[in-house]
Amino acid sequence: MGAKTEVSNSNPVSQKGALRSEWEMTFARCRVSVGFLTRWQYEMVSVPLISLADTGPRELEQLDSACRDHGFFLLKDHGMDEAINEMWLCSARFFGQPREYKRRILRTDSLPLGYYDRELTKRKRDLKEVFDYMRPRDLGAGDDLNQWPESDVQFREAMTSFFSAATSSAARTLDLVYRALVRGREDLTGLPVGDARTSTVRLNHYPVNDPLQENERQDVVDPGDMALHHHTDPGILTLLVQDMTGGLQTLSRAEGWIDVPPASNTVVANLGDAMQVWSNDHYRAAVHRVVPMTAVNRFSTPFFFNPGRDAVLKPIPELSNDPAVYREFTWKEYIKGRVDDNYADLGEDDIQIDRFRL
Ligand SMILES: [Fe+2]
Repeated sequence: MGAKTEVSNSNPVSQKGALRSEWEMTFARCRVSVGFLTRWQYEMVSVPLISLADTGPRELEQLDSACRDHGFFLLKDHGMDEAINEMWLCSARFFGQPREYKRRILRTDSLPLGYYDRELTKRKRDLKEVFDYMRPRDLGAGDDLNQWPESDVQFREAMTSFFSAATSSAARTLDLVYRALVRGREDLTGLPVGDARTSTVRLNHYPVNDPLQENERQDVVDPGDMALHHHTDPGILTLLVQDMTGGLQTLSRAEGWIDVPPASNTVVANLGDAMQVWSNDHYRAAVHRVVPMTAVNRFSTPFFFNPGRDAVLKPIPELSNDPAVYREFTWKEYIKGRVDDNYADLGEDDIQIDRFRL
């Protein structure tokens, strides 16, 4: 498997050689995409760095531009550092275990949480292995639907702390997105919120080589040309912790595919389908993908902040004065249609928000 034993997104040079400042790294990765643009234009169309603790008017402006153009931004001062460090250690340790160990908690139709190594996106197999979990219940409560690796108590504790920290940061990030969209409005009462009960975490490991052995590949869908094929996330927003390997890209209206650069001590945020519907298309559910790994494995961990089970998805009048471009539908019906084809090729693409467009 060859998984790294230590993963930290706070050390950008361990795999890449000479140390460069955060700004230099960010700029170097983006300048190819933005070419001749001025610094001001670059900031407006690329992936801005936003403080979650102290967000000024200029940052709200950058956030607004990014959410209209592609839906990605980076967060600093997110308050998740300790939880991220523990999660990283346990994620790397888990994926470094023998396959028999991981497959003991294999995700199935009837047990939809746990380990999986043949995820489909857009009817093509992704070149990665994953571990999915929902909000952990109290130890011994008996109603925890999660499958945990046996004899690794630290893993469960780390994932519990990470879930809690990510839920809190995601709620604050959503407030920030609302403030960027409806600038001048401080009272956010009544606007839709996320729900920890429907939110999920996925540990991702993208190895350089196919995680399936040759004899396992005959009965599964072929991989395509991407490690993770282009898609949008279905929920409100995603907080993504990624290591310094790179490879994540988003589709900008202005620039086409651009890199979402790794930057130390940051968390990546991207909007999902629910936010696009609530904002009546003013903000964009980020279309994104991951290019194949060629030299080193990549680790990433998204936290999917989702609406409540019975939440209604429809344009919110307080967020847009334009006539609604979507009819209303529920989160429950939408998410069912989005996840069904992750297990098997059902012969058609999964449902998208376009199905509900008026
Ligand atoms: Fe995604």
